Amino acid sequence: MDPSIFSVLILSAYAIYFMLPAYLANASALTFGGGTPLDLGRSMNDGRRILGDGVTWKGTIIGILIGMAVGLVQGAISGNIVHDLLIIGDPGIANLVQGTITSNAVQGILLGLVLGSGAVIGDACGSFIKRRFKVERGRPVPLMDQLDFVVGALVFTSLVVMIPSSLIIIILVISVFLHLGTNIIAYLLGLKNVWY
Ligand code: CTP
Ligand code: MG
Repeated sequence: MDPSIFSVLILSAYAIYFMLPAYLANASALTFGGGTPLDLGRSMNDGRRILGDGVTWKGTIIGILIGMAVGLVQGAISGNIVHDLLIIGDPGIANLVQGTITSNAVQGILLGLVLGSGAVIGDACGSFIKRRFKVERGRPVPLMDQLDFVVGALVFTSLVVMIPSSLIIIILVISVFLHLGTNIIAYLLGLKNVWY
C-alpha cells in the first residue's frame, strides 16, 4: 500500500480513538436524554426557545459523565497500548499525536471531561443557533448538526492540549461520515424517523 495512504488510515483510526469520549457523550445524551429541558422552557426576546426541548439536563449530565468515564478507561488502560501500536504502525504519526495520548487515569478523566463537556455544550450551541434562525427543534441543518458537537469538543480540548492541525482536519471529515452512518443505522433499526 502507498505509504501516505497507510499514514492517513492510521491517523484516521487514531482520530476515532481520540474522539471516543466526545462521540459516546453525544450518543449517550441522545440515548439516555429526555425530560426537563436545560433552558427550563424559557424563551428569548425573539419569542423562540433559548435551546428547545432537544437539550435536556439528563442528556447533558449523562453525556459529560460518559465522556469522563471513557476518558478514564483510555488513560488508565488503553493509552500506552495505543501509543505502542502507533509506533509499530507509523512512528511519524506516533510522534505527531504523542501529546494527545493520555497514559494515566487523571489525564484520561481530564481529557474525557473537556471532550465530553465540549461535545454536549457544542451541541447545545448548535440548538441555540438553530432557534435564533427559527429552525424548529429536530429539523436538520446539514453540517451543523454533524459538526456542532465536534467543534465544541475540539475547542474545549484545545484549552488543555495542542491538537495537530492534520488531526483536526481528519476528525472533521470522519465525523461527518460517522454521524451520517450511525444515523442511517438508527433509521434502519427504527430508532429515528429520518435517515439524516
Ligand atoms: N438530548 C438530550 N440532551 C442533550 C442532547 C440531546 O436529552 N443535551 C436528546 C434529546 O432527546 C434530543 C436527542 O437527544 O431530542 C437528539 O439530539 P439532537 O439531535 O441534538 O436534538 P434535536 O432533537 O434534533 O433538536 P435540535 O433541533 O435542537 O438539534
Ligand atoms: Mg438534531
